[in-house]
Amino acid sequence: MTPEVNSEQAALWNGPGGHGWAAARDMVDVVLQPYEDLLVAAASERPRTGVLDVGCGTGGVTRAIAAALGDVPCLGVDISGPQIAVAQETANARFVEADAQIHPFKAEFDLIVSRFGVMFFDDPVAAFRNLRKAAKPGGELRVVVWRDKDENPFMTTAERAVAPLMPDLPTFAPDGPGPYGLADPDRARKVLDESGWTGVDFREVDLTCSMPEDVLPQYLTMLGPVGRALQTMDEQERDEVLKTVLRAFDPFVKDGQVSFPSAAWEIKALNPL
Ligand SMILES: C[S@@+](CC[C@H](N)C(=O)[O-])C[C@H]1O[C@@H](n2cnc3c(N)ncnc32)[C@H](O)[C@@H]1O
Repeated sequence: MTPEVNSEQAALWNGPGGHGWAAARDMVDVVLQPYEDLLVAAASERPRTGVLDVGCGTGGVTRAIAAALGDVPCLGVDISGPQIAVAQETANARFVEADAQIHPFKAEFDLIVSRFGVMFFDDPVAAFRNLRKAAKPGGELRVVVWRDKDENPFMTTAERAVAPLMPDLPTFAPDGPGPYGLADPDRARKVLDESGWTGVDFREVDLTCSMPEDVLPQYLTMLGPVGRALQTMDEQERDEVLKTVLRAFDPFVKDGQVSFPSAAWEIKALNPL
């Protein structure tokens, strides 16, 4: 049955996109470790009684926060069945497959976090309003979202490299659901204001992400529009395209490591008392 909202994203994250992220979970957690550290530090700033991780994927951040906070219950929610299926629960980290825009949350969390999982809503105002229902009065929102794609060259290198070979690759509208959906701070602030969050604050976060060079080919074939396109090619064509893509990543490779600058917003907001 087609879901009532976010049908395209639900199809993507329950299809090739979600399966790719599920298979690449260890790589993803290595590459995005600096952002996990940021959210664990944020969660540890003061005592918490319940934490919700939105768009939790395979749950690395949920588990890391749960481990750092001891016995505080932590819940990860994600629309992606393939990812939730491999999210390992711990004593205080639990997972649910659901659309965060419409899930009937109870007001039981005093912290809501997300590592790049809140930019994909068809109706962001409705989604952030629904997330307020999950927050206790005075509860805090601490999420990281990508800044503009021009400030994140690593994420666009593959697409730029294959553009002459694959002109029909899907692109993301700057304001639409997608990785850069909240990159514009004016738009993001309007979304949070209209959904009733207060004390909205943006901080630029510039972090270096890295991974071993030998996992780069696997990473590129599993994630993003190029990864999904590569999966549909025959072996010879895939090898050709991958060679072109890997060459484009040369500037990021040094001493067996791929390292790249990344640019995000840390957005903070409060649910009114
Ligand atoms: C870029 S991934 C990030 C995953 C994870 N937070 C991480 O850092 O590894 C974005 C995640 O948001 C999830 N997502 C997209 N739309 C969603 C929705 N409406 N409700 C819940 N999760 C959603 C996707 O399934 C995906 O797992």
